[in-house]
Amino acid sequence: MCGIIGYIGKKQAYPIIINGLKKMEYRGYDSYGICVLDGDSVFLKKRVGRISSENSESECKGCISIGHSRWATTGSVCEKNAHPQEYNQFYVVHNGIVENYKELKEELIKKGHQFSSDTDTEVIAHLISEEFKGNLEDATKKALKKIIGSYGIAVISPKDKGKIVVAKLSSPIILGITDDGYIVASDPSAIINYTKQIITLDDNEIATLKEDSYTISKDKKIETIDWESDAVDKGDFEHFMLKEIMEEPRVIENAIQGRLLESDVKLGGLESSKERLKRTNKIYLVGCGTGYYAAKVGEYLMEEIGIIDAEAHMGSEVRYRNVRLNPDQTAIFVSQSGETADNLACLKKMKEANVLTLGVTNVIGSTQTRETEGGVYTRCGPEIAVASTKAFIGQITVLVMISLFLGRQRNLEEKEAKKIILELKNISKKADIVLKQAEKIKEIARKYSQYKDFFFIGRKFNYPIAMEGALKLKEISYVHAEGVTGGELKHGPLALIDETCPTIAICTKDSVYDKMLSNIEEVKARNGKVIAIATEGDSKIKEIATDVIYIPETLECLTPLLSAIPLHLFAYYFALALEKDIDKPRNLAKSVTVE
Ligand code: M6R
Repeated sequence: MCGIIGYIGKKQAYPIIINGLKKMEYRGYDSYGICVLDGDSVFLKKRVGRISSENSESECKGCISIGHSRWATTGSVCEKNAHPQEYNQFYVVHNGIVENYKELKEELIKKGHQFSSDTDTEVIAHLISEEFKGNLEDATKKALKKIIGSYGIAVISPKDKGKIVVAKLSSPIILGITDDGYIVASDPSAIINYTKQIITLDDNEIATLKEDSYTISKDKKIETIDWESDAVDKGDFEHFMLKEIMEEPRVIENAIQGRLLESDVKLGGLESSKERLKRTNKIYLVGCGTGYYAAKVGEYLMEEIGIIDAEAHMGSEVRYRNVRLNPDQTAIFVSQSGETADNLACLKKMKEANVLTLGVTNVIGSTQTRETEGGVYTRCGPEIAVASTKAFIGQITVLVMISLFLGRQRNLEEKEAKKIILELKNISKKADIVLKQAEKIKEIARKYSQYKDFFFIGRKFNYPIAMEGALKLKEISYVHAEGVTGGELKHGPLALIDETCPTIAICTKDSVYDKMLSNIEEVKARNGKVIAIATEGDSKIKEIATDVIYIPETLECLTPLLSAIPLHLFAYYFALALEKDIDKPRNLAKSVTVE
């Protein structure tokens, strides 16, 4: 939930840390802090609030520094709880949670330690101090043995100068190799302005970084990230969310690039799992939030194109359920960050049962990509806004291709596969057409922006899109929105419909079109207003819906790639009309690395 960063090298560290924290602010934005070492002197600054307005110039010339952007978990939001946490000149930044911190704290207090914050992280600094015999790495190693929980940490101290010690367990740590030194961070977005060469730490690994060398417990491969550095800048856009929605057509193009043949798909990350995928008789798709809704679209895609039984599950639920697992099953984990704790817990469970595990992931080198046996990158580039938009489109595009892969191993006819592939190649142009209606959608969003309750309805492929549209609206506007299947309306939700509760109905020309029309009629009969997402050329819908947003015609199975876009724009413009903090909604963080 937090962002950590560190720099050691030949350059002044302060601006590198401040700029890196600004790039990672979406991971946590209630407070921040920085510690710089310059010989024997220590500069420490902690502040409550956003780092965005912080100046990156400083008199402080030291070349060793750590920094942190916080999303409070243990201890309220105040300066003393901001990181770096310090004890006896040991400075620690931490992303994760020390689950046994209360017990550890009690023991340390009995030994005479005095605590100055309410955080779990402070115990790490105390434990390191207890264990310190002249070597920071040894002390950190010993201290971490006592900790139950998760961590990505960076530690510095004037007592063992010239190094940063970093360690990881269930929270990401990436090491960037630059010409003048090393940067560590929770996330590539803080690094890519300086280098594309990275090393990803694995769980239980410790690294020590010095000005011109580093050591890690074992030899590691240097990877290259192909993200563009300007991808972490807003450019001319007012918000990252709008920039990322506008990138959606390009995301589809990137995801399919080099992966589509005439009637087959070529997915390098599935090659080594080919035989097991042939034997697989059931697919689990696992995700959280928007990742879960993409997984749900995947469930329909697998059944329809993949010709295989599939079930989508939320990571937070399936990890505790007694689903019957066996080696003839495959689990596909859908995640932008690849660090979502509930998904990773479920991944562990699946692996223990010898289920084949695959990832549909955006962040290169993330835990999910390293822990799964194979998978397919979504290639969306960094997604910065807390509300996930382009990653959703990338995930669905990849799930279409995985379904085609599975289908071609089964009975999906060549003719059918060809048709889907052809449309997939063209669909980004149709996505561009949807985006051209941004101004119209803005007007509609503004018109409805005073309403406090919304229903989103859809059926079949558009049912997960209804849930996604509702999630996006509530996440950034803080208004109540529910996504349900059209078919469920009369089983309860209809009781809430009246003139004060508008419904957004995804009613495209597909196999459930007539059913959706009936659902719209049900809403109208209760005086509910209806904003329809409909297929271009559908004049019938105009007569019953209050407002209509048209999307181009496409194959039913690919509709989500178009129908999600107006809902992303609607949520964005709705929140804009309410003047909300769109990229950083209250109470939320981009990456949920704790349960
Ligand atoms: O990184 P992930 O895709 O695993 O994240 C999963 C969810 O936390 C995420 O989709 C969340 O629901 C978004 N804020 C939705 O916009």
